[in-house]
Amino acid sequence: MEKIQRPKGTQDIFGKDASRWQAVESCFRKIMRQAHYQEIRTPAFEYTELFKRGVGETTDIVNKEMYTFEKGERSLTLRPEGTAGVVRSYVEQGMSRWPKPVKLYYMGPMFRYERPQAGRQRQFHQMGLELFGLDTPEADAEAISLAMDFFGSLELPNLALEVNNIGTAQCREVFKQGFQTLVTPYLAKLCQDCQNRFHSNPLRMLDCKIPADKEIYDLPEIKSFLEKDFTSDECQAHFAKLSDILSALEIPFKRNYRLVRGLDYYTKTVFEITSTHLGAQNAVCGGGRYNNLVEQLGGPATPAVGWALGMERLVSLLGDLENAGLDYYIVSDQPEYAFKVAKLLRAKNLAVEVNLSGKNFGKQFETAAKSGAPKILVLGEAEAKNQQVTVKIMADASQNSLSLRELLGSL
Ligand code: HAM
Repeated sequence: MEKIQRPKGTQDIFGKDASRWQAVESCFRKIMRQAHYQEIRTPAFEYTELFKRGVGETTDIVNKEMYTFEKGERSLTLRPEGTAGVVRSYVEQGMSRWPKPVKLYYMGPMFRYERPQAGRQRQFHQMGLELFGLDTPEADAEAISLAMDFFGSLELPNLALEVNNIGTAQCREVFKQGFQTLVTPYLAKLCQDCQNRFHSNPLRMLDCKIPADKEIYDLPEIKSFLEKDFTSDECQAHFAKLSDILSALEIPFKRNYRLVRGLDYYTKTVFEITSTHLGAQNAVCGGGRYNNLVEQLGGPATPAVGWALGMERLVSLLGDLENAGLDYYIVSDQPEYAFKVAKLLRAKNLAVEVNLSGKNFGKQFETAAKSGAPKILVLGEAEAKNQQVTVKIMADASQNSLSLRELLGSL
């Protein structure tokens, strides 16, 4: 019969990879707990209008990449990112009444209908954090430094942090006028996406990946317009303070005046962390401040900042981790006793596998030898009767019998 394969752009995670994922997840949880962030788990699908309003109608994510389906009267969408759902929950669950800041973290699968390639899947996983209630450079600095601490503790190689300030909606008006004037002579040469964005959202033109368009945005007059910083004094002061804190924390970063990100909700600070080890899809982590989103989704005006990282990309940067193996392998024809001993050993935090085959001792020993466990426990009829265990040490093939109580006492 024809085999059914996994859908394009998805992955099965198992074996050594699963251990890497677990190591990354537990390291992230630890860092989040120590920084006093609480976990939030939101649904994997939401009403489509959440993403239209949250992520933005002019973004590629909303225009081209959403998995949308109708059920009953309503249109639903598999979440393409985590922030919109977290903000929806923040508003719906009344978290705006909690003491500020409200600090949340999450992890889970996200879905984007993109062309799959190395580092780009249709189902991928993000870990992220969102901090609500503060419009300070200190909050931005904490968010960025937690990402860097996390990567540092995983000893990830060759990371680069790029930061930019894209200002508020008012600053964006200043940008729009200046930028449109400078770009008008080149408009006909630009790609269709850029031409569409020229009116709807010119800032996003800077995110274009087409080399010929990028060359135009690199022209000296456009570069110097961006480098003069079109944002307000307040936004510039915010960015200067953030830069000071990052420097004091010895977090190296570069200001990239062209960094604008692919989602519409950002204000002031945006940032991205890339790795030279990743190829074309080199962003491991991205985020920034989004001071209008809570209000746009029906909550009280609440500033916020956050980021998300791609777990597949992160895991691909990790070297081989030591596989936490077995401590004991139990061969036995006394299942009741075998399960009892396994339970007592596991309660001591040991990894124990019980042979479940029902085969003879010879066959069970063959499997035990292949399991990699350094010690085999032999639990036959005599051992069960006398509450004893026979321990075989694989390294020197030595064997001795002792009472179960003695074994547990020696651990
Ligand atoms: P984003 O830049 O769209 O931001 O995604 C964050 C990270 O998710 C990327 O840097 C990348 O590592 C990973 N990623 C995105 N798309 C894919 C894909 N198709 N395959 C594999 N990995 C992918 C956001 O999603 C924002 N919600 C981040 C944020 C949180 N901003 C504020 N708070």
